[in-house]
Amino acid sequence: MANSRRDKADSYTLRAHREGYPARSVYKLEEINNTHKLIKPGDSVLDVGAAPGSWTLFTHRELIKGKGRIVSVDLNPLRLDPVPSTVIEITGDAFSKENRARLVELGPYDCIISDAAPMTTGNRTVDTTRSEWLAENVVYLAEEQLREHGNLVIKIFQGGGQEQILKTMRTLFAKAKAFKPKACRDDSFEIYLIGLDRKPRA
Ligand SMILES: C[S@@+](CC[C@H](N)C(=O)[O-])C[C@H]1O[C@@H](n2cnc3c(N)ncnc32)[C@H](O)[C@@H]1O
Repeated sequence: MANSRRDKADSYTLRAHREGYPARSVYKLEEINNTHKLIKPGDSVLDVGAAPGSWTLFTHRELIKGKGRIVSVDLNPLRLDPVPSTVIEITGDAFSKENRARLVELGPYDCIISDAAPMTTGNRTVDTTRSEWLAENVVYLAEEQLREHGNLVIKIFQGGGQEQILKTMRTLFAKAKAFKPKACRDDSFEIYLIGLDRKPRA
């Protein structure tokens, strides 16, 4: 009983290792996609905050099934060997002037997935403010670069203005909601904001 939190963490980590994924976070995307059907074979996907690469690898293997394209951007390089054939990797800040311009050049996208998170400091206010900044910037990118009927997933730390971001997402998508996958650690304060079916541009 006392160990249930760790046991759960360990079972996801061990499974990820067995299945060849560099991080247990893969099972969050699996659950989000199983419940919301975000991505289909042939789609063009943008993965923001992609390293070490579990979401990218899962998208390649199980969602686009080797067809389509994944643009994966992170401050750190992917830890995938080999990097899948559908992947265009960009290493650096997704929102620097240069990298953002490159993401626009490679768009538009059928789906944008963002598991991006700041380095945590232990100060909840600082961490949630930084997480909110990342989430807002992903929404701006989606507003510009997501195709009509496209879908969006964004991680945000709870307390980081998620209601305001959901409000903006409701203007852009037929449906927008918060979702906490079972694979999130029990003590984690992250949550995912999901936008389904991008409305036509005005
Ligand atoms: C939880 S990890 C992502 C795990 C990934 N989804 C996977 O399954 O392997 C969060 C990532 O966000 C990245 N990140 C944070 N801020 C970023 C930024 N401004 N631009 C690009 N990546 C960023 C971090 O470098 C980190 O690798």
